[in-house]
Amino acid sequence: MTSVSFTRLTLPAPVLALGLALSLVAPAAAQDMADYRPLFEPLPALAPIPAGRAMTEARIALGQMLFFEPRISASGVISCATCHNPALGWTDRIPRATGHEGQVGNRNTPTVLNAGFLAAQFWDGREPDLEGQALGPIQAGVEMAMTLDAAIARLNEFAIYREMFAAAFPDDADPVHAGNVALAIAAFERTLNTPNSPFDRFLAGDDSALTSEQQQGMRLFADSGCIACHNGPNFSDSQFHMIQVPGSTDEGRFLVTGDEADRHAFRTPTLRNVAVTYPYFNNGSVEALPEAVAIMGREMLGQEFAAEDVSAIVAFLEALTGEMPDVTIPALP
Ligand code: HEC
Ligand code: HEC
Repeated sequence: MTSVSFTRLTLPAPVLALGLALSLVAPAAAQDMADYRPLFEPLPALAPIPAGRAMTEARIALGQMLFFEPRISASGVISCATCHNPALGWTDRIPRATGHEGQVGNRNTPTVLNAGFLAAQFWDGREPDLEGQALGPIQAGVEMAMTLDAAIARLNEFAIYREMFAAAFPDDADPVHAGNVALAIAAFERTLNTPNSPFDRFLAGDDSALTSEQQQGMRLFADSGCIACHNGPNFSDSQFHMIQVPGSTDEGRFLVTGDEADRHAFRTPTLRNVAVTYPYFNNGSVEALPEAVAIMGREMLGQEFAAEDVSAIVAFLEALTGEMPDVTIPALP
């Protein structure tokens, strides 16, 4: 068993104080849970909406169409949903993404579920928000390989798109343009959240929502320090941490900043729905969740977890799978 006592130092002082105060009054088990619940945040149904980014029905509907629209790719067959497939946890379940003409990129496809809760997009955080992110894959040579001008020209060929852009951006005299494509896709993505997981129900007060093994995994997750980086509603601090996962030569954040301190640093990924978004890590090198957890213990915490501790943490992570968004694949023009 991994010791839990000394690592308690990683808990914020107010939480420790609260725990101590409660320990005087509450019975052991309930007090124990009261200690842990304040360390976590439930996942809201809607991601935070940045100022000036209206979430209207018309924008969300347009964004949904564009997300599934392959004709904004050079080949006419690749859409966002090719790699962020709703049937596969909104990712692709292959180690590294395959895009235009079968080219394989360098990185694993992260899920878009709950991505609106991240303050930095991509493994290297090169875009701050979903709007900034959205136009990248359309133009990326290994993804959709399309110029924005050509994508806009194609959309303009369809009366339904001209109408939907006009409805989504009523103040815009010439609304079919790249900036609005980004706004619409981002509005749609902010609806792709997975609230009400067993763990969220547990946080809301239902002790029976987690098995005792999952509760033990939650304690280990907090006490051994996973929570230092995997925190907040989406289990990511949106910060960059140095690590070289198996087989990776990717320089990560360094490629964005050129700062030595960022070499091999990656943005903490979400752990929401992590049980269904395998394979793992920036290069998709690890297929199984227990192995990913063991690597994290070793590389990030200098700790060799016993097999039963790995199992408990994995059981906890499985409780982070929430309700999948109810999205109908749109009929395209
Ligand atoms: C060919 C596969 C492919 C296609 C097509 C694709 N993506 Fe991605 N997506 C990826 C990969 C790979 C990454 C990670 C790239 C990186 O970090 O450098 C990614 C990252 C993202 C992220 C950031 C998530 C995070 O955790 O940082 C979002 C959001 C996203 N894509 C949305 C989209 C949208 C919207 C489209 C369509 C306009 C799209 N993707 C098209 C493969 C793809
Ligand atoms: C110092 C910050 C930090 C700590 C502590 C940490 N992680 Fe991570 N975690 C990361 C980063 C960064 C990555 C991405 C690494 C990569 O792919 O290059 C990651 C990736 C993961 C992944 C793979 C997710 C995916 O979708 O690819 C899992 C699972 C994971 N961590 C679980 C844990 C667990 C469990 C603990 C505690 C034993 C832990 N982490 C501790 C920062 C951290």
